[in-house]
Amino acid sequence: MGGRKAMLSVTQCLIFIMLHATFVNLNVAVAPEERRKLATDASGFISIDCGVGQDYLDEETGIFYKSDKDFTSTGENEYIAPGYFGRIYQSVRFFPKGRKNCYTLRPEQGKNQNYLIRAFFIYGNYDAKNQIPRFDLYLGVDFWTTVQLSYASQQTYYEIIYFSLYDAINLCLVNTGYGTPFISALELRHMNHSIYRIDSRSLLPLERYDLGNSTNSDVRFNDDVYDRVWYQFTPNDYISLNTNSNIDVQSTNTVETPVDVFRTAIQPRSPLRSINHTFMYNYYYDYEYYACFHFAEVLQISQGEPQREFSITFNGDNYGPITLQYLKPLTICTRPRKSRIIGYVECFIISTAQSDLPPILNALEIFVVLLPLVSQTQQMQTYKINKDDSWQGDPCLPRNYTWSGLNCGYDGNSPRIISLNLSESKLTGNISPSFSNLKAMQSLDLSGNELTGIVPEFLAQLPNLTVLNLSGNKLTGSVPQPLVQKSNNGLLQLSLNRNSHLCQTYSCEKNKHNFLLPVVTSVTTVMVLLFLSSIFVCRRMRKQEATSQSKKEGSIISKNRSFSYLEIVSITRNFETTIEEGGFGKVYFGTLEDDTQVAVKLLSQYSRQGYKEFQAEAQLLMIVHHKNLVSLIGYCDDSHNKALIYEYMVNGNLRDHLSETSGITLNWDERLHIAADAAQGLEYLHNGCKPPIIHRDLKTSNILLNGKLQAKIADFGLSRAFTNESCSHITTRPAGTFGYLDPEAQASGNFNKKSDVYSFGITLLELITGQPAIKRDVNGEIIRIQHWVIPIIENGDIRSIVDPRLQGDFDTNSAWKAVEIALSCVLNTAIRRPDMSDVSSELKECLAIINLVTPVVGSQRMDRGRTRLINSLEMRSSEIDTEMAPSPR
Ligand SMILES: *[C@@H]1O[C@H](CO)[C@@H](O)[C@H](O)[C@H]1NC(C)=O
Ligand SMILES: *[C@@H]1O[C@H](CO)[C@@H](O)[C@H](O)[C@H]1NC(C)=O
Ligand SMILES: *[C@@H]1O[C@H](CO)[C@@H](O)[C@H](O)[C@H]1NC(C)=O
Ligand SMILES: *[C@@H]1O[C@H](CO)[C@@H](O)[C@H](O)[C@H]1NC(C)=O
Ligand SMILES: *[C@@H]1O[C@H](CO)[C@@H](O)[C@H](O)[C@H]1NC(C)=O
Ligand SMILES: *[C@@H]1O[C@H](CO)[C@@H](O)[C@H](O)[C@H]1NC(C)=O
Ligand SMILES: *[C@@H]1O[C@H](CO)[C@@H](O)[C@H](O)[C@H]1NC(C)=O
Repeated sequence: MGGRKAMLSVTQCLIFIMLHATFVNLNVAVAPEERRKLATDASGFISIDCGVGQDYLDEETGIFYKSDKDFTSTGENEYIAPGYFGRIYQSVRFFPKGRKNCYTLRPEQGKNQNYLIRAFFIYGNYDAKNQIPRFDLYLGVDFWTTVQLSYASQQTYYEIIYFSLYDAINLCLVNTGYGTPFISALELRHMNHSIYRIDSRSLLPLERYDLGNSTNSDVRFNDDVYDRVWYQFTPNDYISLNTNSNIDVQSTNTVETPVDVFRTAIQPRSPLRSINHTFMYNYYYDYEYYACFHFAEVLQISQGEPQREFSITFNGDNYGPITLQYLKPLTICTRPRKSRIIGYVECFIISTAQSDLPPILNALEIFVVLLPLVSQTQQMQTYKINKDDSWQGDPCLPRNYTWSGLNCGYDGNSPRIISLNLSESKLTGNISPSFSNLKAMQSLDLSGNELTGIVPEFLAQLPNLTVLNLSGNKLTGSVPQPLVQKSNNGLLQLSLNRNSHLCQTYSCEKNKHNFLLPVVTSVTTVMVLLFLSSIFVCRRMRKQEATSQSKKEGSIISKNRSFSYLEIVSITRNFETTIEEGGFGKVYFGTLEDDTQVAVKLLSQYSRQGYKEFQAEAQLLMIVHHKNLVSLIGYCDDSHNKALIYEYMVNGNLRDHLSETSGITLNWDERLHIAADAAQGLEYLHNGCKPPIIHRDLKTSNILLNGKLQAKIADFGLSRAFTNESCSHITTRPAGTFGYLDPEAQASGNFNKKSDVYSFGITLLELITGQPAIKRDVNGEIIRIQHWVIPIIENGDIRSIVDPRLQGDFDTNSAWKAVEIALSCVLNTAIRRPDMSDVSSELKECLAIINLVTPVVGSQRMDRGRTRLINSLEMRSSEIDTEMAPSPR
């Protein structure tokens, strides 16, 4: 059922490549355009604010929202407590009755069209129960997604580009037994000349970036006629280009892409010559992907000057070579393609050999293509009775949520009703001719109602009908002969008791009453099988350009020294004192001839065949020197034994200091210093070493403390020696430790800087809370540290998070900030995690806060800090647990 889970795990890493250096002039940014407001909604828009009493114009977006009363017949309204969210989130409609409740949207453009559909949710404790429900969304009969919210004030929306085969689109909320379904808002936008129309299939947006614009906002309506939300983003390693000239959008195939999106672009920093974007998408590994690349040349390139030419590769398919014309947009949408490497989506934009300039990219969209149709339409008519709210949407689908009182057969192309039991349903009028359409019917029970009129003859024409119960009604006239015959032949179990006016013989006179029965047409819509939709959002951390101070701090190449095994024996006095037993083997205490204390790590025998490059690695590691990295002093590499000799860290590892059994408690100041030290060490590995060293297994037990409680990172670079990375950038061998391990890296085996950042975030949370990365609750369920921290932080309760052993003796501002940093590091979307240079400088700011703070200033600042944190958490933590998109509002 993995595909049904709303949880997406996406490994996204933007990798950008280059060979060649070219300089580019940057133009001045365009002045922001006045946002025009529309008095009414645009054509093709249905915007519904669920649970409000009245329609209104949202001043902020210029979108006209309707109340939902005309779109659904069930449910109740409630308002949520005011908070930090936009107007559409302030009310909800919830559905306490029935398993399936639906909204019916009837866009005027009708069927066979593409519609962008977004459903918005914020729980906001509207029912004062403090229990966040979980439920499913269906579009027609097809599963779309599970709505799963992590905390009460999380704002989330789910988006899909839906190809509708029917004029009416039913969005159904299905109660799966985990609380009452609710909804905050619902939006539908018709996509006219849609570039997304591929084989009548639906698309789940994964990414939609407006690249190269560093304004921290999103482009949407009415800059985007379809109200798509483009997240502005400039990845590291790229320069932004922009123009303030007019983009000639009319000239091309891309009338639908907002002008603003074309005005900015990214270009790889020289000497790189390609834009590589690969990411991992676990839950859709067997699906096709579809991408649209949006380009417009923003530099005026004259004849004779360096020219730009490039080609695109998307999951192995090539497009191009492409040259751009100044200010003329060009959109290239790919053919749907599965991954070449399972689960990996690969985009490369590479300069051709003739090109003088590196490629550019103005905007990028990537989608999962959902499965094509699986069944056909079946028409049926039936009674519409209000005995039960389950009678909404399709009678037979979804399978577990059929209407009450009926059973369906699912053998053929489309589901069919095989039994219908409407006994004791207070039905009046006569027996509907519509039953004649239910050809697969085997059992019909209409007993105990107040049906009048005759027993229709068509009931005998239902070929498979074996049970017909019409007892206890007010039927009149005679029983049709064919029915009597079938019954006499034992083909039909017919029950007509307690119809006092019914003539049980063929000769009876016909009754002339002819009441009209209320009949409602219900179309059994059979639709695209949808699995899941949720979009990802990328929003930069506000960056201060990395001042890679640490690069200067690491320097001097140490004298590399190789020891013999005998020397190791002597240094450790025949392995007298074990310091610890680590992942790669035991660590012994030792003393060199010059009395330097060392830790000798004897690598375990079992993994020795993986040590091919051991010596090369060891020599490499010996040139890595930084005050926050445990220095490798030497190694032993004889044929049978391999060992690494490190500087000795008197105070052992950080985990031991944080553990409950530790005698001494690190104070807040010490903790922040340790965090800042570790951050600097890691930053040096990432940014100070070329090629960067990825630690892969950062955790509190790999952070060691010396006599001055200065923190140093240990065990870096080691896992490289154990892996066989000859050709692929995807390492198959898992590394890392459960609880610290980036879920994406774990899934893909692809470790990069951002997976280290994740581990650092967990480490920082441990430092703040004193709690381990994972705990088990009373039921033995694993709880990750971030999962219990977030709800508490959401309540603004920093004191319940910080290690109780500090007894409240810490500075609140710096604690808020530290938590904020930690949570940004553990975002599930790798590219949204900060770089270690940012983490390091933010932690230094934390230290600055505690040095500056006075009690009065402190309490004022606390509130401000908190507001800001909660705002940013709304954006971030939504991603931490469920990886859903936050609201654009
Ligand atoms: C980017 O992609 C190109 C083409 O596949 C490849 O040659 C290059 O090595 C890649 N660069 C990086 C850093 O992955
Ligand atoms: C960047 O985006 C903002 C907000 O959408 C817009 O006002 C601005 O014009 C854009 N900058 C450029 C250079 O296009
Ligand atoms: C959609 O098409 C109609 C008619 O062709 C046009 O009036 C309308 O402006 C279009 N809408 C968009 C968003 O392009
Ligand atoms: C239907 O319910 C059964 C049992 O409750 C469950 O095992 C199955 O996964 C459900 N199927 C769907 C499509 O939800
Ligand atoms: C229809 O439902 C009623 C009450 O739920 C039950 O007593 C009756 O046996 C059912 N009829 C059939 C044909 O299953
Ligand atoms: C009636 O039942 C038979 C045997 O189960 C089946 O093959 C046939 O398709 C059914 N007829 C209809 C109209 O569903
Ligand atoms: C018909 O319905 C009545 C009342 O629900 C019940 O007593 C009887 O057993 C039913 N007969 C059949 C054939 O299902």
